[in-house]
Amino acid sequence: MISVTTAMLGRRSTRAFLNRPVPLNEVRDIIDVARRAPSGGNLQPWRLIALAGDDLTQFKAAVHANLKQNPRGDGPEFPVYPNPLREPFDGRRRKCGEDMYAAIGVTREDRAGRLQQFARNYDFFGAPVGMILAMDRSMEPAQWADIGIFLQSILLLAYERGLATCAQASWAAVHKTVRAHLGLPDDMVVICGVSLGYPDVDHPINSATMDREPVATVAELRGFGDR
Ligand SMILES: Cc1cc2nc3c(=O)[nH]c(=O)nc-3n(C[C@H](O)[C@H](O)[C@H](O)COP(=O)(O)O)c2cc1C
Repeated sequence: MISVTTAMLGRRSTRAFLNRPVPLNEVRDIIDVARRAPSGGNLQPWRLIALAGDDLTQFKAAVHANLKQNPRGDGPEFPVYPNPLREPFDGRRRKCGEDMYAAIGVTREDRAGRLQQFARNYDFFGAPVGMILAMDRSMEPAQWADIGIFLQSILLLAYERGLATCAQASWAAVHKTVRAHLGLPDDMVVICGVSLGYPDVDHPINSATMDREPVATVAELRGFGDR
């Protein structure tokens, strides 16, 4: 079994998948372990819906039909980013987009190419499993942090099993259709989606490696002496 460090270093957002189904027991086992994620007060505020086969096909068809009528989606249920997005964050976001589009030869000027790649979000990038992560609307920022821990647990556990993932805030932009089609009550917030499947390692989109800030930028180590 691989180490947590190996999973942390090896996992990356994957945006092209093989046409190979993921067995039910793999998905169930990932969720079974991820539910051990910590949460403040042990609230376990997460709710996950995993779709495959006909359920996934019908779900995507409903979302595509909505997007045909409403190309901009349902409007945000919550702001995915602050507006305006301050530096250094805006620069990091731009670089992320540039690196991703560069991997598939889409230039900054190629708006159609960018939109086409963005639209792949609503196909779960061709993954055989699509997941929607939701949470009770009454939750506070601390529970959003809990959700993040649960999400990362899913991503790492999938990696451990040779599977690949992409977390996708883009699904929050179609929250009305997601909620209606999945029968989620109005008091659930659609937080994000997750594509899950076996990675297409030869696809150029999967060659993009995103930078990270150095330790000195993200943390301060105080009182340790020189060692
Ligand atoms: C909560 C969350 C939402 C994300 N939403 C999207 C998305 O909608 N579409 C997408 O292609 N990538 C999405 N990503 C992937 C990020 O762009 C990616 O994690 C980041 O650039 C770092 O790259 P890496 O995951 O390959 O290390 C999301 C990631 C997270 C954690």
